[in-house]
Amino acid sequence: MKALSLRELEAEAQRRLEPGAYDLFAGGADDEVTLRANENAFARLGLVPRVLRGRGRPQLETTLLGCRTSMPIVIAPTAFHRLAHPDGERATARAAAAAGAIMTVSMASTTAIEEIAEASAGGTLWFQLYLQPDLGFTEALIRRVEAAGCKALVVTVDSPVFGRRERDLRNGFTDLPSGLCCENMRPAGPGGTRGPARPIAFSEALSWEHIDWLRKSTSLPLVLKGLVHPADAKMALERGVDAVLVSNHGGRQLDTIPATLELLPPIAEAIGGRLPILLDGGIRRGTDIVKALALGANAVAIGRPVLWGLAAEGEAGVAHVLETLRSELERAMALCGCGSASDVGPELLHVSRWEKQCRTS
Ligand SMILES: Cc1cc2nc3c(=O)[nH]c(=O)nc-3n(C[C@H](O)[C@H](O)[C@H](O)COP(=O)(O)O)c2cc1C
Repeated sequence: MKALSLRELEAEAQRRLEPGAYDLFAGGADDEVTLRANENAFARLGLVPRVLRGRGRPQLETTLLGCRTSMPIVIAPTAFHRLAHPDGERATARAAAAAGAIMTVSMASTTAIEEIAEASAGGTLWFQLYLQPDLGFTEALIRRVEAAGCKALVVTVDSPVFGRRERDLRNGFTDLPSGLCCENMRPAGPGGTRGPARPIAFSEALSWEHIDWLRKSTSLPLVLKGLVHPADAKMALERGVDAVLVSNHGGRQLDTIPATLELLPPIAEAIGGRLPILLDGGIRRGTDIVKALALGANAVAIGRPVLWGLAAEGEAGVAHVLETLRSELERAMALCGCGSASDVGPELLHVSRWEKQCRTS
């Protein structure tokens, strides 16, 4: 029987995956406070629908950074898709393209960007980058990504060091199984060959100067992923980036960062409509997406649900995830009296008397 919800799909994925692989995908940093907070924040915020507005069937199509997408739902970059299913990133890319959705390919993909682009066959791909201290290597990779036809660079800025994930330490998961590697980390060798994969380096020295360098190194639109502070959102505006993705890395980096949903309003205020804002972390229902849009996001991104779909059923599973969220979003918007994203605003949100009191006291 097909999973009725993304939560059922996670249960199915858990049945199919090795326990260590399930924990690698499901887990977060330290006490997993942020991981839980992301989902809980959506449950705590209520929707108060409008009625009798006669808007007709909700229109979900939108444009992000010049890319048409069938819905405001982007696939977030997640590593190691071939650990979830042998077809790995190719299956994800095929499902995304068929759904008319944008896929963000992780730099830590277990399939090379060129092969993912081939599988995607004209679908829209963005590429996620951990800027490497070796700028020569980074630049060569950007050229590969451009040549493969990717339409934006999503630069992850929340990872000067690697978060400590105790589930992985407990399970002894330190490396990919033999036969799998981060294919984009293999530098070009002689005669079109590729050398062994380098480990992905995280850099405590990463700074706004590197973003300036990137800006000069490529004409692709730049999305900064992992911004959570409004002061950094203002810096992003000043430095000429093209979009921000409000993210706490799905609770996998700094633990105890609040839920992204709670961090969104001050960031939206700082940005003031001058840049597109995306949000990820804990999106599991169409109603979650309505809430993110109501608080100022232009679109959301989904991480783990894609891995659950992939683990459960490969390409068909990812297609099922995208279709489930699309139809849930459409239904939630219709039930809220919204015909398009421009109808979705803060008036639909229920701020409890208790919360109002906390804010004024
Ligand atoms: C297994 C896994 C691998 C991830 N790999 C990456 C990555 O390679 N690069 C990156 O920027 N974010 C990575 N992320 C973070 C996601 O892009 C995204 O921020 C997060 O998963 C969103 O939360 P959600 O899983 O609740 O939807 C990863 C997340 C997971 C769960």
